[in-house]
Amino acid sequence: MKIENFLKESFSILPTPFHKLENISRETGVNIYCKRDDLTGFAFGGNKTRKLDFLIADAISKKANTLIAVGAIQSNFCRMAAAAGKVSGLDVHLILGGKKPEKPTGNLLLSYLFGANIHFVESDDWNILEREGKLLAEKFKTQGKNVCWLPIGGSTPIGALGYVAAFIEILDDCKRLGITTNTIIHTSSSSGTQAGLIVGKKLTGWQGKIIGMGVAKTEKQLSKEVFELAHDTGKLLWESIPSGHVSIDKKDVILDNSYMGAAYGARTAACESAIKLFAEKEGIVLDNVYTGKAAAGLLDYAKRGLFSPNENVVFIHTGGNVEMFA
Ligand SMILES: Cc1ncc(COP(=O)(O)O)c(C=O)c1O
Repeated sequence: MKIENFLKESFSILPTPFHKLENISRETGVNIYCKRDDLTGFAFGGNKTRKLDFLIADAISKKANTLIAVGAIQSNFCRMAAAAGKVSGLDVHLILGGKKPEKPTGNLLLSYLFGANIHFVESDDWNILEREGKLLAEKFKTQGKNVCWLPIGGSTPIGALGYVAAFIEILDDCKRLGITTNTIIHTSSSSGTQAGLIVGKKLTGWQGKIIGMGVAKTEKQLSKEVFELAHDTGKLLWESIPSGHVSIDKKDVILDNSYMGAAYGARTAACESAIKLFAEKEGIVLDNVYTGKAAAGLLDYAKRGLFSPNENVVFIHTGGNVEMFA
């Protein structure tokens, strides 16, 4: 089926802005353009609203009345899923990893504000959180509820369609500004953003590189997940291309975990200085878990001369800046 024919809500305010980072470009000697997916608008915005546009439309078409989403205690995805579910009339339950704090802050504070029921599980193991979520889903099903189950990051083939569409939007942005690009850099964690972008690349025949800066898993694990999800997302879109299928090549999956630090969420000096640079030079707020680490990679690549002279590089700001208030 063609992407235009999939059911879609309009939580995201699209297209998001796209502009050159003039000061950072001057400083690094590389033309850096920023796709502002931190400004998707809904529920404080971020990359997940694009996935939720498709995921919630699908849930509503299946007559779901209850939504379960899973994530870390400061999950950006769960914050946006809570709002998208509630405004669509669903009963929302979040399974969050961690101990209930005395005073909620950041994303957790917003998830309460958006009306979610929150279940704390004292673990940072995503498999355990997913298992707890599935148990709750089973319990609700026996009570006759129609459950929409959203895995970590909303990274399913339907969710990844959000980033197939975003890829096409970025090519339109470049056209509007009269530039071409061969490199797109973004943060990669639960695989949906990167898988969607890769499928967009295959559908349009664009020849550049999509570089995911890994922040959560081993490169081996995440490459496998991105590859499989891109393959499954491509299958959904089989009618869109003449050959009848989207063939994903292993070499389309480019991941670099060099900027993750010791673990998911661990602070790094390079991330902190990237956050400061974006704030002071561009008035743009990144975060310590996701976008600051990808920006650290972007800046390091520029410093090491890994981009061609006069190359236009696109950095996708995937949001996450609510973390500043956590
Ligand atoms: C701010 C931010 N950027 C990037 C990502 C990574 O996106 P994905 O999970 O689709 O790989 C996330 C995921 O949680 C995020 O919250």
